[in-house]
Formats: sequence, structure tokens, C-alpha cells
Amino acid sequence: MTTTNASVARRLTQHLREGTTDMGEELRVPVSHFVSPQHAARERQVLMRKPLIIGRGSEIPKKGDFITREVLGIPLIVVRKADGGVASYVNICKHRGGRVENAESGTKRFFTCNYHGWSYACESGELRGVPYDEFYTQVNRETHGLNVVRTREWQGFLFANFAGDTEQPIDDWMGPDVTAQLEDLGVAESEIFLHKSFTLDINWKLVLDGAIDVLHPKFLHPDGVGKLIETNTSVWHDYGPHGQSFSPRTKLGDLARAGEEPEAAWKLIGSNLFLYPNASVIAAPDHVEFWTVWPDPVDPGRSTTEIRFLVRPEILDERMEARLNKSWQILEQAASEEDWPMEETIQKNSEAWPHGSYLYGRNEQSCQHLHRQLALDMAEVQN
Ligand code: FES
Ligand SMILES: [Fe+2]
Repeated sequence: MTTTNASVARRLTQHLREGTTDMGEELRVPVSHFVSPQHAARERQVLMRKPLIIGRGSEIPKKGDFITREVLGIPLIVVRKADGGVASYVNICKHRGGRVENAESGTKRFFTCNYHGWSYACESGELRGVPYDEFYTQVNRETHGLNVVRTREWQGFLFANFAGDTEQPIDDWMGPDVTAQLEDLGVAESEIFLHKSFTLDINWKLVLDGAIDVLHPKFLHPDGVGKLIETNTSVWHDYGPHGQSFSPRTKLGDLARAGEEPEAAWKLIGSNLFLYPNASVIAAPDHVEFWTVWPDPVDPGRSTTEIRFLVRPEILDERMEARLNKSWQILEQAASEEDWPMEETIQKNSEAWPHGSYLYGRNEQSCQHLHRQLALDMAEVQN
């Protein structure tokens, strides 16, 4: 653990003993932010200007490997190039808009549209083959390549950036604190143990709220997570657009209240490292949960949540696999039987009564962060 995390352990211990928690200002978020199509369209503009994590480099390990993704409604082909770099192309044929690649993943040198057979190079997205090209007055191979979306790999994550010309290096965008935390968790070296996808009738921000909320475990999960994590004791670190919430596991609570000086270990502290705008890296004792939550491109009341378990390959043996599968069961049960039904109700209620605002208390900095940051960025989009 980093020295930062050692100081977090001390602060959590103090909070536990004194019955306190980190606090900021109160925040009100209009209910319309969860239901308004106009608001959702402006949010989408904000997201389109940010580096977005669309996968892991280990999903395309070798030259010519590709995956297809839909990112904010835009179909992409993400490829591994011969020089080890990565690239993304918009998966829309330059002839008349067919889908150039339909498979979810594979290995190819060319992508061929199966409407009229135009083909494009995996390496560059350039147009290569045009059947019957003597019937077109001019098809310039140079200008009819697939549209390119700038994509980079950092700490094992694949970042796509639709605002290619205005971007900053990912290192700067993430900053030293996020980098140190990801390094501490060994994220760059980790591989995907499992990958699940859930499309739910919930605004994307409510799903992220629920994943980082420190005030609900004992109420919504009294017999599960609520027994493992302390409710309403947390430390919040603001990392600019990103941030990190730390919560004591109940074991840390027991040690702190017994007067012991606990160590800073992930088995005692839960953490949610929020990567603006729509990703979270959640520390578990032996692995990390990596969440991305994607707003539906048109419906504010719908989103798709991708959850991957990332694990360092050297610790993965049969016993660890069994533990990770058990962990997944606990997470899936809490999410699909408790968190998501609650959030679906909130979504329905927000649609039924889209007036007024929801309240985020002084002790709820972790949940407030996304809303505050979006408000800042949306003010810019309006101008
Ligand atoms: S639409 Fe792709 S080849 Fe015609
Ligand atoms: Fe929960």
C-alpha cells in the first residue's frame, strides 16, 4: 500500500473511534438530470470530449486482434497493430453505411463489409478493395478509409477519445494520485478474470451513485455487504475530475474500536477509485472490480454496466478462482437483488415526479463528485 493509504487507514481508525466521517458541503441535484432527454444529450456531448475507457489491452493481445464495441451509440472496431500500438475505427462502411465487422472479436488482416464487399486494412483502416470499382467515377482510396478514433493504452486500459485534436496525454488527465493508486493495485499487470454486461432501466449516474454510496450498506444490504462494510464512515480524496472513496471493512471497525492500530491493507479497507466520467476501480482483497457505466445514446432512463474482475495472473490458482467466483456471486446478488432494483425504482419515481431535487448530504462527498464535475463541464458545453 502507498503512504497515502497508510494515512487513510489512520484517518478511518480515528473516524471509527470518534463516530465521525469526512465531510464537505451539501448538494442538491435536480431530478430532471436523471430523466430529461435534453440534459442527457448535453451530457453525451461532455462524454464525447473525454478520454473513455472502452476495454483492456489484454482483450487484443496480438497483431491483427480486434474487438468491436458500441461507445455512446457509435460502433467501433478496436485493433492491435503490428507495432504493438492500438487503433479504433468507426465500424461504418464508406460505401453506404454497412457494418464492416459484425463479430465481437477475432483476428483479421482486412475487414470486409458483407453488403457489397468493400474491404479495409486492419492496420490502418484504409480502403483496400472495391469490387466493380470501374462503375464509380472516382473512389479515392486515401479519403475513403474508415474514420479513425484516437485510441491509446495506459495501465492496461484502452482509452478512446472522440475529441482527437484537443486531447492531453492520459498521464496528465489521470494525474499522479490516480496513477499511484492503480500501481498499488497492480492494475497494469492484471488480466480479465470475468466480464459481465447488464443493460438496465436506470440512468447511468444512478448506477455510479449506487456503486460509490457509503451511506447505504447496512440499510439496503443488512445481511450481506452491510455486514462487511461500515456504513457512513469514509474518507474522500479529490483528484481533480477523478476521486477516491475509502471505507472501513467491519474487521477494521472491530480492530479500531478495540483500540488496536490496524495496518493499511485492502483486506481491511474498501476503496472505490472513480475515473471520470464513467468508470470505477473498486479494490477487493485479491482483485479489483472494474466498472464502466454507459448511458444509452438516446434514452436517459437506460444504461449498460460492464463489470470486469481484474486479477494478477501470478496469484491465479484453483483456490483463487473459487474465491473470485464466490466474490462474483456476492456482488451479483447484492447488485441484481438489492442495488439495481432500488435504482430502477428511483428511475421510475424520477420519471413519475421529475420536479425538485435530490439531496446529497455533507457526508456524501463520494456520490456528489460526479454531479459536481459534470455541472462544471456542462457549463462549458453550453457556451
Ligand atoms: S455498404 Fe459496405 S460495401 Fe456497400
Ligand atoms: Fe449497494
